[in-house]
Amino acid sequence: MPTPRRTQVAIIGAGPSGLLLGHLLHRAGVDNVILERRSAEYVLGRIRAGVLEQTTVDLLEETGLGARMRREGLVHDGVELSFGGARHRIDFVALTGKRVTVYGQTEVTHDLMDARRAFGGETVYEALDVALHDFDGVTPRVTWHDARGEHVLDCDFIAGCDGYHGVSRAGVPAASIETYERVYRFGWLGILSDTPPVSPELIYSNHARGFALCSMRSPTRSRYYIQCSIDEHVDQWSDDAFWDELRRRLDPHAAETMVIGPSIEKSIAPLRSFVAEPMRFGRLFLAGDAAHIVPPTGAKGLNLAVADVRYLANALIEALAERSNAGIDHYSERCLRRVWKAERFSWWFTSLTHRFPETGAIGQKLQRAELDYLVSSHAASTAMAENYVGLPFEDS
Ligand code: APR
Ligand code: PHB
Repeated sequence: MPTPRRTQVAIIGAGPSGLLLGHLLHRAGVDNVILERRSAEYVLGRIRAGVLEQTTVDLLEETGLGARMRREGLVHDGVELSFGGARHRIDFVALTGKRVTVYGQTEVTHDLMDARRAFGGETVYEALDVALHDFDGVTPRVTWHDARGEHVLDCDFIAGCDGYHGVSRAGVPAASIETYERVYRFGWLGILSDTPPVSPELIYSNHARGFALCSMRSPTRSRYYIQCSIDEHVDQWSDDAFWDELRRRLDPHAAETMVIGPSIEKSIAPLRSFVAEPMRFGRLFLAGDAAHIVPPTGAKGLNLAVADVRYLANALIEALAERSNAGIDHYSERCLRRVWKAERFSWWFTSLTHRFPETGAIGQKLQRAELDYLVSSHAASTAMAENYVGLPFEDS
């Protein structure tokens, strides 16, 4: 048995949740170690959504992570909804006074990794067979092995930031956890290309052939998605076939003016709504994708992860530095209130914009009526806008 080392918080997973938690804890003088199954290059190679709510931007700014985001992030004042051959703008600023920032999750992860390196925070990459022990007692422990051998880490708390397929949630006894899940019957086929975005703002398109989304990473790099069947394989889609299908699902102006080019990444992502309750088990806390998944329509995943981590960092700092359990006792309930609202919005926006063959012709008519109502009613547009830009925190 190797000699145990000690830290205050053992963090499982070096995605945005784990890295941000490590950053916030470090700033408050709380010692932490991150254990990540993959290499840093692998983590940075994952391409995910890229729309940041104002509260996410503010937190990154306030904690010294905003410099590159300020330079390279694209501030968007609204989005467009496309249906019936025309586009309709939802003006976030006019409706809510707020904006969103388009800045890829990969870039956020990059900035977090750089910050961690700069303060000398420890991240163990390629940590294999990470196992959690005794988190329902007072002396939790994490074990793993890597190229250097077997390791034991004693700690006060464990943060499970290891995503949907991680070990943290899987290690909780089935009787202590309730899960809620919907798996959609379709996926998103996405491509990244070094072409200018078709329009300065995002376009969410409802079309009889299926959903399409025009997004971007920079003024010269576009990210596009089309709804596809989950049985399809990405190799079945040539770039030409993708561009043709995308253009068919957009309004004539967008289809004509779109600049196309070779894809630099192409992949299919499944869509899922998932929540695990509660998010705390003794001295183990789940955060981000380890506890919940939203379908990507509306780009809530990263923002929800940041909201969890904000609550968790404050709660752990209170518990360790001030010896108060108030924050950790309320952690799960506080997060879940926000989580369910984002689950509802992401499900609703998915239902409104995608093709659901099982709902038939009446389903399409009802979607169209709701879209007409959404873009013509101030109340309905405001409800959509306030969810998209991010609901306010109840405790701030
Ligand atoms: N041991 C150690 N690390 C693990 C293990 C394990 N057994 N299993 C998974 N991990 C790592 C993964 O390799 C990954 O780097 O945990 C990390 C989890 O990162 P994410 O999946 O990015 O989850 P999270 O940090 O919560 O980020 C949430 O990601 O999926 C998007 O939409 C979501 O944007 C949101 C964000
Ligand atoms: C993206 O840019 O990848 C993106 C944007 C908005 C979404 C989902 C994904 O709703």
